[in-house]
Amino acid sequence: MKASFHVHQGPRCADLLSCNVHSRRCLRRKVCRVSATAAPVKDEIGSVPNATQFTNDIISEEKKYIMQTYARPDLVFTHGEGARLYDAHGKEYLDFAAGIAVNALGHSDPRWLEAVVEQAGTLTHTSNLFHSVPQVRLAKRLVEQSFADKVFYANSGTEANEAAIKFSRKYARLQAGVDPYDAGAEAPHEVVSFTGSFHGRTLGALALTYKDAYKIPFAPGLPGARMVKYLDLDAAAAVIKKGKTAAVFVEPIQGEGGIFPASRDFLQGLRGLCDEAGALLVFDEVQCGLGRTGKLFGYQNFGVEPDILTLAKPLAGGLPIGAVLVKQKVADAMKPGDHGSTFAGNPLVTRAAEAVVDIISEPAFLESVVDKGERLRSSLREALKGNEHVKEIRGLGLITGIQLDQPAGGVVTAARDEGLIVITAGAGDVVRLVPPLTITNDDVDLAVSILASVLNSLQAQNQTV
Ligand SMILES: Cc1ncc(COP(=O)(O)O)c(C=O)c1O
Repeated sequence: MKASFHVHQGPRCADLLSCNVHSRRCLRRKVCRVSATAAPVKDEIGSVPNATQFTNDIISEEKKYIMQTYARPDLVFTHGEGARLYDAHGKEYLDFAAGIAVNALGHSDPRWLEAVVEQAGTLTHTSNLFHSVPQVRLAKRLVEQSFADKVFYANSGTEANEAAIKFSRKYARLQAGVDPYDAGAEAPHEVVSFTGSFHGRTLGALALTYKDAYKIPFAPGLPGARMVKYLDLDAAAAVIKKGKTAAVFVEPIQGEGGIFPASRDFLQGLRGLCDEAGALLVFDEVQCGLGRTGKLFGYQNFGVEPDILTLAKPLAGGLPIGAVLVKQKVADAMKPGDHGSTFAGNPLVTRAAEAVVDIISEPAFLESVVDKGERLRSSLREALKGNEHVKEIRGLGLITGIQLDQPAGGVVTAARDEGLIVITAGAGDVVRLVPPLTITNDDVDLAVSILASVLNSLQAQNQTV
């Protein structure tokens, strides 16, 4: 039997705070479009009654009940559609953050929604003790379209990287000819990463992440983590050594680090160094993978294949998932029981991901990402020509950074006030644009005009001071 949905009865649900079953649906009436039992509800999407009170209540209850590990603006999003987000006041925002490069199809894409609803009403979770259909279908798609032979599922980017660290270390033990289950055995175990990198917040991935502030409070970190200057092949050659190095982790385009694409020479050089050292080359494509660069995988821009590639953010269009794509030699190093996860790759998330991958991997879709990315950067360069605060505009496909000469927080806030959601990167001095890949040219032009107005008025203010 298929799921049926709450049918919104009135123009608005007046009981949003206490109605934990229906509150979102009352605001997002188009969910009712896919209801098996309900006729479509066509009320216009609007604001929450007493929006200011509602917003204040949510913010104060968030402070009361949720650990304060995130700094958030005083804004409560209640629903989204395509590249638009709406707050409790009904104010519309153009979303150029996409949940930090997650909502590749935008919000509530009907094809994604249909897949999720259909799968949720069929089979959501079985654990990895049993076979299920969507996880096999998704793995087949990922393998057939990449360098990889096998897939391992995780639930997030950091977990995908954590798995990749474990796979590399066990692979290194086997290559060294030691019994991998011998606690006293010595084998290459160092894991190399680069300045500016971000690989996640769990202890293994954190050790590979650049920013000390993320790591020091939780010391000691993973032994054997080695940090090398990004794009410096000589520095990498001094550290990547046979008998020491198990793996080298690199983002083909650094995201959190400030939108820095690697060069073909650097990645090819790393490939050579890893081959000489018998180490595995791991591409972290958690942020830059799956169509964001205009290729299905970021590495396809550089003509270099990794041994392992990690994916997460956009894969299931907003549901939590991670995936580790590996060559057969890596898969062969792992046996049943060596690694696992209860939730990973469950039927619901993998069915959602199938829908995402099918849409994103269409050649015309990928070409449109390239075109919109070029339009975005060339229009920004034109509109911001001569602006002394803009040092560089860089990126590939729909991952773009505007390097400022000062912290970007004020620009992010001013853009949000004007109805554009963007985020920071780097040392907080980069405006990061990672919109849904489904944005239109008009969306691009609107974002450019808002950013130009904000950045050019910053310049004008400083000139008059
Ligand atoms: C390149 C990269 N790797 C890993 C991660 C961690 O992913 P998650 O937050 O899903 O654990 C991120 C998150 O921003 C990322 O950008």
